[in-house]
Amino acid sequence: MKNNILLILLLTFAACQTDKDALVIEESQYQKFEVICDRDTTLISKKGVKINIKSNTFECSKNEVVTLKFVEIIDKSDMILNQLYTVDDKGQLLESGGMFQLIDATNNSKTFEHPIQLEIPTETANSKMIRYSAEMQDNLLVWSATEDKVQLNNVDNLTEGKKLFKDNCSACHNSSLRAHMTGPALGNVHLFREKDWLIEFTKNSQRLAATGDSIARCVLNWDASIMQNFPMLSDNEIENIYEYIANESELQGIAKNEIDYLSECEILERGEFNFKFDSDYKYLLELSESQWVNVDYLAFVNSKIEPIILNLDKEYKNISIALAFQERNIVIPFVKDKVDSKKYSLWHPREKDKIDFPLGEKVNIVAYSYSGDFQYKIMEYQPKKKNNNIEFTMESTDKKEFLKTIEKL
Ligand code: HEC
Repeated sequence: MKNNILLILLLTFAACQTDKDALVIEESQYQKFEVICDRDTTLISKKGVKINIKSNTFECSKNEVVTLKFVEIIDKSDMILNQLYTVDDKGQLLESGGMFQLIDATNNSKTFEHPIQLEIPTETANSKMIRYSAEMQDNLLVWSATEDKVQLNNVDNLTEGKKLFKDNCSACHNSSLRAHMTGPALGNVHLFREKDWLIEFTKNSQRLAATGDSIARCVLNWDASIMQNFPMLSDNEIENIYEYIANESELQGIAKNEIDYLSECEILERGEFNFKFDSDYKYLLELSESQWVNVDYLAFVNSKIEPIILNLDKEYKNISIALAFQERNIVIPFVKDKVDSKKYSLWHPREKDKIDFPLGEKVNIVAYSYSGDFQYKIMEYQPKKKNNNIEFTMESTDKKEFLKTIEKL
C-alpha cells in the first residue's frame, strides 16, 4: 500500500514537471488555426513560417474541424518576454533559428499520424543547424541536441558562390574573410561597396580605376600586387560570390567595423551599401509530436570568464532577468542565488567559478519585474575575464517604452 502511494506521488510529480513547459508561454502567444481533417492544408504563421499538414494527420473523421495552436519564438524580444533561452542542458550557448510548438488543441494528442513540415524563413543560411528538443532543468526549459541536422532550402546561389569563391578568389583572399593575404580581407565587403561597383571591380579592376573611379584607385594602391581580371564570370555568378561572402560574414560573426583595410577607402557611412540579395533561405523541420523543438547550433565560444553576478538593490517578487547578445541570437537567463535572494547569476547547470563565454561580445542585460508595478532596466555590458560583479537597480516603469526598446535589441 505504501508503495502504491509513493508511485502515485511520483507520477503526479512527473506530470507536473512535463506540464510546466505549457505554463511558460502565455495563452495569448499562441496563434490559433482550424483545419479540416481530410484535407492537405498549408498555414502561414505571423512570422512567415509555412506549416504543411497532410490530410488525416490528426485523430478525426472526414469533415471534422481540428483546432491547432502554434507558437513561434524567433526574435530575442520574444525569448525575453516568454522566458525561453538559448542554452543547452550542459550550459553551452546556442544560437537559435527559432523555437516552435504545435498543439492539436481538439484532441490533445501528443503525436501526429503524419509528420508536419515547417518551412522557416531565415536571413542567414547556416548549414550547421541541428534540431534540439526541450527538457526541464532548474525550472527552465533547456535544450538537448538530437541527431537530426536541419535541412536548408533555396541555397543554390550560396552553394554556387562558395564554389566560385574557392576556385577563383581563395588563392589571394583568405577564406576566413578576416585576415589579409595577397588580397585584402573581404568580410562584410558588401556593406561598404555598391553592388555595381563590386561587379565591375571583380570583372576588371584596372578598367574601373581608369574611368577615374576614386575608390577603385584607392583600393588598387593597397599594395603592389594587382588583382587578376575575371571577364569569364557573369554578373549573376559574381553576385553569388558576394552573396556567399555576405552570408559567411554573418555566420562568422564579423562585426561591421572589424576589417581595418576597408576603412582606408571608405566612401559613405558604414553599412550604407547594403547589398540586397533576393534569396529566400528556409530551414525545414518536421514535427511528429506536439513537443517543443528548436533550430539551433552551438555558438562559438573562445574563452572562460568569471560568472556574471548581479547584486540587486532589493528583493523583487516576480522578476525575470536575461542576458541578450547584441549581434547574435543568444539569450541566457539569470537565476536567483539559493541563499541571497538579491543576488542573481548567469545560469549554468554546474556551478563553477568559470563559465564558457565568448569575449569581445557586447550584450544587454534586461530585467523586468511584472508583479504589481512594472519596473525594468536594460543595461549594456561587455563581459570581462574577471570581476563581472554588477550593482543593479531597476530604473524605469514605462511598460510601453520597455516593449518598444526590447523589440530593437
Ligand atoms: C591574384 C590574386 C587575387 C585574386 C585571384 C583575386 N583577388 Fe581580389 N584583390 C586582390 C588584390 C591584390 C586586391 C587589392 C587591390 C589591388 O591591389 O589590385 C584585391 C581587391 C579586391 C576587392 C576590393 C576590396 C575593397 O575593399 O573594395 C574585392 C571586392 C575583391 N578583391 C574581390 C575578389 C573576388 C570576388 C575574387 C574572385 C572572383 C578575387 N578578388 C580574386 C587580389 C586578388
